[in-house]
Amino acid sequence: METRIRISTSKFPQLTARQYGMENQPTIVLLHGFPADSNLWREVVPLLQDDFRILVSDLPGVGESSFSGDEVSVEALATGIAALLKEQKIEKAIIAGHSMGGYIAFAFAALFPEMVEGVSIIHSSAKADDEEKIKARRKSIELIRKGGKEAFINAMLPPLFAESFRNAHPEVIEQQRRQAMEIADATLIAFYNAMINRPERLDVLRSASFPVQWIIGAQDNLASPEKVLQQTSLANVNFVSVYPDSGHMAMLEDPQELAKDIRAFATYSTARQTEELSA
Ligand code: MLT
Repeated sequence: METRIRISTSKFPQLTARQYGMENQPTIVLLHGFPADSNLWREVVPLLQDDFRILVSDLPGVGESSFSGDEVSVEALATGIAALLKEQKIEKAIIAGHSMGGYIAFAFAALFPEMVEGVSIIHSSAKADDEEKIKARRKSIELIRKGGKEAFINAMLPPLFAESFRNAHPEVIEQQRRQAMEIADATLIAFYNAMINRPERLDVLRSASFPVQWIIGAQDNLASPEKVLQQTSLANVNFVSVYPDSGHMAMLEDPQELAKDIRAFATYSTARQTEELSA
């Protein structure tokens, strides 16, 4: 069953999420990346909703969700997600984030560790942007400001997918492209600035009292497998999966495998929590 949740905070005049599954089940929050919306999870939700309560939000600025002012930070976005959970009286959840959603998941874990049962990092990294990346983002912001959103999206989207998937499923890339084009220029710019300004979060990993999951695409051009693998032994408990045929988009390239791995991680993390509480 799908239900709609809608809240309002001073930073977020409207923050919406769709909720699936049963309220008495462990909660998994799925945070989408850039430039996407909650639809990104369309293949994964049906594979998990029988056993978990799933919350899928459109991040503020996307879909019906909005933020006030011109700027937003990963910390503000994480605070909005925490407000959504609190409104639903959800005390703890598995926070799963794809790429930019992963940066928000790290911010959530830094700000609200007591609400975290486990963090699932999907094609993302705890490192901050380096100088080269910041320069490239600033160039893209200029392009979007000059009316070049379509050129920006047409250039950035296809390489997110592994070449073999791209060739076999041009319709999926086209669907993502159309969804990305729905996002306002101001939102794309605000998200890029939020990513530029995000800090490194390796300390979150080193001090994590919760398990951390890493989903890595061997053909990911954005979250480099070599660089991400270096982070996968920093937390105490790490689940690491490398998908040989995936690029940056396992939720569309290999949803069955991703759902299976998230299920295993969420089951372990919630059982561990229950054990700790009863010890
Ligand atoms: C994403 O996939 O969410 C973003 O492209 C991540 C990034 O640009 O760092």
